[in-house]
Parts: sequence; structure tokens; C-alpha cells
Amino acid sequence: MHRATFPQVRVMTKKLYIKTYGCQMNVYDSERMAEALDGYEQVNSPDGADMILLNTCHIREKAAEKIYSELGRYRGLKEANPDLKIGVAGCVAQAEGEEVMRRQPLVDIVVGPQSYHRLPELEAKAARGEKALDTDFPEEDKFEKLKTRPKAQRGPTAFLTVQEGCDKFCAFCVVPYTRGAEVSRPVARVLAEAEDLVSRGVREITLLGQNVNAYHGADGGETWGLARLIRRLAEIDELKRIRFTTSHPNDMEDDLITAHGDCEKLMPYLHLPVQSGSDRILKRMARKHTAAEYIRLIERIREARPDLLLSGDFIVGFPEETEEDFQATMALIEAVNYGQAYSFKYSSRPGTPAAERAEVDPEVAADRLQRLQALLTRQQKAAQDAMVGREIDVLFEKPGRLPGQMVGKSGYLHAVHVTGEVAVGQISRVRITESGPNSLGGTLL
Ligand code: 5AD
Ligand code: SF4
Repeated sequence: MHRATFPQVRVMTKKLYIKTYGCQMNVYDSERMAEALDGYEQVNSPDGADMILLNTCHIREKAAEKIYSELGRYRGLKEANPDLKIGVAGCVAQAEGEEVMRRQPLVDIVVGPQSYHRLPELEAKAARGEKALDTDFPEEDKFEKLKTRPKAQRGPTAFLTVQEGCDKFCAFCVVPYTRGAEVSRPVARVLAEAEDLVSRGVREITLLGQNVNAYHGADGGETWGLARLIRRLAEIDELKRIRFTTSHPNDMEDDLITAHGDCEKLMPYLHLPVQSGSDRILKRMARKHTAAEYIRLIERIREARPDLLLSGDFIVGFPEETEEDFQATMALIEAVNYGQAYSFKYSSRPGTPAAERAEVDPEVAADRLQRLQALLTRQQKAAQDAMVGREIDVLFEKPGRLPGQMVGKSGYLHAVHVTGEVAVGQISRVRITESGPNSLGGTLL
């Protein structure tokens, strides 16, 4: 049929560019913000956009400085299009508030992570030429208020936020301040959102929370823990895989450990940060457990699920960390054997207790980070290489770089590519034949 035979109706959609920094929670939030802003379509570049949103992270380093320099780059776009609205969302917005607009007058909207459901009002205010700011911690469930557009088909994997905020107050961390106290979404809402995602093609859901294993969602008069929620989600037929991130060792309760052994849909991958292997530093970090307790916990989880791939977070150069403390962290890593990990040089966060303490020489910290990462990289490579020869299930997500290639994920979260006929969203049996720098290669069985 000729294009010209279609009636020339054009819906006026404005263009929305979102740049997301930081954690998976922000990725999820950015999706919800895009859905909330009716009349906007999301684009991949700030050029020609009608609204630019930076969804920011404040966890480490000079995060705020990065945001200001990014904002400065939009000056030309704003001059070319005075109607362009620029917004700052996420944890920098929460931490800095009005200061963002004072330092960078280009900014029209500042919105904290608990106020995204108010974005349409903030956008309307900005459209009237007023500055719009909301960094409250309201009582209502922001996700409930965020309007979802009519059923768009989704890719096979999705995030679902079930819990936000943190009550742990680790001495180095801004999260309890920027994201506030722990709040769990009620069971019924999580289930409804999961059902909706599955009806739109999702086959794997990662449950998100700053401290997700502390989930305690209300169901009528009862409270559900994370394990019970996972078991209930596993009853959704078309949902094939469940993951959760990120967890605190002290909230790893017995039923969650058991679930790793007997809930088939719960994937054999666990991100369980320990931060340090030195009891002295753990204490100063206010982690409230020892290295030995953590190692024992890992043993128990591995008893339930022997092939579990373990992931962690580490901070080196925490104030007053000595070489001996650092060696204790290296020894813990040796004892645990991680398949994957994130590691960071300590960075002082204003307002946190650790910010008051004497810092380690940056060069010493950099050297420790290098040694720690060398060890973690070796373990990661060994875990990946050990997959060669195994037959595993892969959930296929998208075409690969080469013609005829498809890429998906193993249960252990390794990227796996194959050549052959397999649909997006399909789970197929694959024999792993090679281990490359960042992915595994295999053949379809
Ligand atoms: N400095 C360095 N790393 C940090 N993290 C959190 N706060 C800091 C900080 N001030 C790391 C922790 C946490 C991860 C999300 O970020 O390892 O688990
Ligand atoms: Fe931050 Fe995690 Fe500690 Fe909470 S448990 S304060 S989010 S590091």
C-alpha cells in the first residue's frame, strides 16, 4: 500500500531525553518517569529534545560535580530552544534540593526519588515558566500514582521495585539520607505489577530494593518477607525467572536461604555485599556482623544451592584502614570465591559519620584497589571459564553483533551468545563451548 493513501494525521508528541546514572533502581525509576510523562516519547539524544531529565546518583565520587558539568553542556540547546525543559531527578536532586537551581539556572525542575508521581504537575508548572521543585517524602506509593500507558510490549527482562530506602546507616553511605527510611510496597501491588509485566512479554523479573531482603510487604493484616513474595511470584506460569538485588547479610533469613535451594525459578545468583573482611573496619562501618559470620552465611546458602554464583561489593581505603585490614579483605575474598563483584575506593560523603574521620592516603587506596580488583578479576574469569562444557538454560534477549547471532543470559547472569534460530524471550538449552573476555559462546541443543 502507498504511504500517501494514509490520512495525514500526526499526533504531536514531544521528545523526552532521560540520562540515567547509578543503580538499577534508577533505571527502573527512569522507565516509570517516561511512562508518567504523557505526550512525550523517549529519544536517545538530547539534541532536539523538549525535555531533558538527568536521573542522578550520589553514592560515590564527585557525582554532583559530574551533573553540573553535564548540565552546562545543555546551554546551547536551551538557547536554540527556549521551551526546552531541563530537570534533575534522583539522589543528587534529593541531596542538593534548591541548590541545584541556584548553581545552574538552566534547571527548571528538581524532583527527588519519592516524588516522581508529581512529575506531570512539575512539568506543567515549568511550562508556565516557573521553577518547579519537589523533594518531599510523601506517604503515598509513588508507583501506584505513576500512570502506566496502555500496554506496550516489553522485552523479556524487567526490574520491579518492591522496597525503597534503608535503615542500616552504614557509616559511609548516603542512601538512608537520600532515599529515606525503608518502605516496602504492599504484596497486592507487587503482584499486580508483575502480572502486568508478564502479560506484556516479560519472562524474568528482578526485584529491586536498596535493601531488598529486608522486604516486609503488607498483605491485609499480615506481613510477607521476600521469600514468601518470591514463592508467590513463582506461581505465575509465564514468569520463568526471578532475581533480587541488593541485600544485606543480616537480613538473609532462613526461608530466603531455603528458597535458593527449592524455588526453581529463583536464579542461582546472589549479590551479597560485605564491603570489608576486617572485623575492625566492619565495626567502624557499622555493618553489624563479622567476617566469620559472613563466611558462615555464605556456606549455608551454598549448602542450599551449591552452584550459586556469588557477587559482592567492596570498599577499600575506608578511613583508618591499615594494610593488615586490607589483607583481611583479601583473605575473605579468597575464602568466599566470588563469581562477580564491584569494588570502589572509599569516597567521603558529606553528612555521613565516616566523613568526619581521617582518610587513607589516596595513593595507598588506589594501590589497594588495584590489588583487590586483580584478585576479583581472576576469580570472575575462573568462574566464567568453568562454564565451558556445561549445558545450561539461556533466556534470549536480543540479536547479537554478528549476523544470525542471538544473545541472552545464563541463570548465573553470564552473557551467552549463540548462532541459530531462537526467538527473543525464549529459554533454550545451550552447550557452552567458549569463554571470551565478557561473554560465553555456545551451541543450541
Ligand atoms: N564510598 C565508596 N563506595 C561506596 N558505596 C556506598 N557508599 C560508598 C562510599 N561512600 C558502595 C558500597 C555499596 C555500593 C552500592 O556502593 O560498596 O554496596
Ligand atoms: Fe547504604 Fe546498603 Fe548500608 Fe543501606 S545497607 S546504608 S544502602 S551500604
